[in-house]
Amino acid sequence: MKDLLSIRDLPKDETIKIIKSASIMKKHLMRKDQLDYGFNGKTLITLFYEPSTRTRVSFEIAAKLLGMNAVNIEPSTSSIVKGESLKDTIKTLSGMHVDMIVMRHPITGAPGIAAKNTSASVINAGDGINEHPTQALLDLFTMMEYKGDIKGLKIAIIGDILHSRVARSNIYLLSKFGAKIHVTGPSTLIPPGLKQMGAVVHKDIKSTLEGADVVMTLRVQRERQALGFFPSFKEYFSLFGLNKERMSYAHPDAILMHPGPVNRGIEIDDTVDNVLTANRQVTNGVAVRMALIKRLAEANRRGGFDLNPISDNDNMHKISDLKEHAL
Ligand code: NCD
Repeated sequence: MKDLLSIRDLPKDETIKIIKSASIMKKHLMRKDQLDYGFNGKTLITLFYEPSTRTRVSFEIAAKLLGMNAVNIEPSTSSIVKGESLKDTIKTLSGMHVDMIVMRHPITGAPGIAAKNTSASVINAGDGINEHPTQALLDLFTMMEYKGDIKGLKIAIIGDILHSRVARSNIYLLSKFGAKIHVTGPSTLIPPGLKQMGAVVHKDIKSTLEGADVVMTLRVQRERQALGFFPSFKEYFSLFGLNKERMSYAHPDAILMHPGPVNRGIEIDDTVDNVLTANRQVTNGVAVRMALIKRLAEANRRGGFDLNPISDNDNMHKISDLKEHAL
């Protein structure tokens, strides 16, 4: 296990190990423990070609609590604006012997291209509309904290499924754990193939919410709204927004999840009094990422995967040459 590119690549037993480890990491996080697993000197890079607050910062905090160096690269102020290709950027980072690259990119599959060009572990932090595997892990962890085993639970996912990497990764992961996924949203934002992924698609919000144990509403992606997938935010709220009355269709103990950032008054209004887990999801995001980084770092320490090793002798030879010439 060098990389985490898709949640589909993570076997169920590995997922359970990560969730268990995340619950221990959460205690360390709450106590602000500085941990020492021998990762001192390892470097994690965050390379985000799309905006982020939660995901990027949580990876940085996670790496630092584990004793690693965390370095953020801002594409808008790096050589990327000079036209450097993704492959070359990744090779440059490899040349600095970084250990992990956490990457968000607008194009599906970009983290996979990065992974092929480096011996560092690549973690997909969102690739276009494709996947966001660590969000699915933190969502599963959060659901398990509130509900225990999620097998057989009804999970309602509402909104822009078409553009949601969060929904896609969650549907893959939660169905692997036996949850029953029900989705709804504007018909223009419901992609084909959901049935094959194991989800039940509804036309109306009432039947989607009825008896749901978990309600996950997605952010309306204003940045992808240029094509006018629905007439207005007001209309979106009137059909798919969550208020107290709508939430009363769900199970009385239903939790309300949101990956953030929340658009108040569009996805959710202030009348809802169910537990909104958005902040808990953020906390759990740090814990899950600590667990994942630790797991990848340990797996790679055993494997030793340097694709471009520098022999000490070569190096010494060149340095002594240099000295001679310098003299
Ligand atoms: C999501 C993302 O960027 O995929 N945010 C996140 O990582 N918590 C959700 C979104 O922006 O819609």
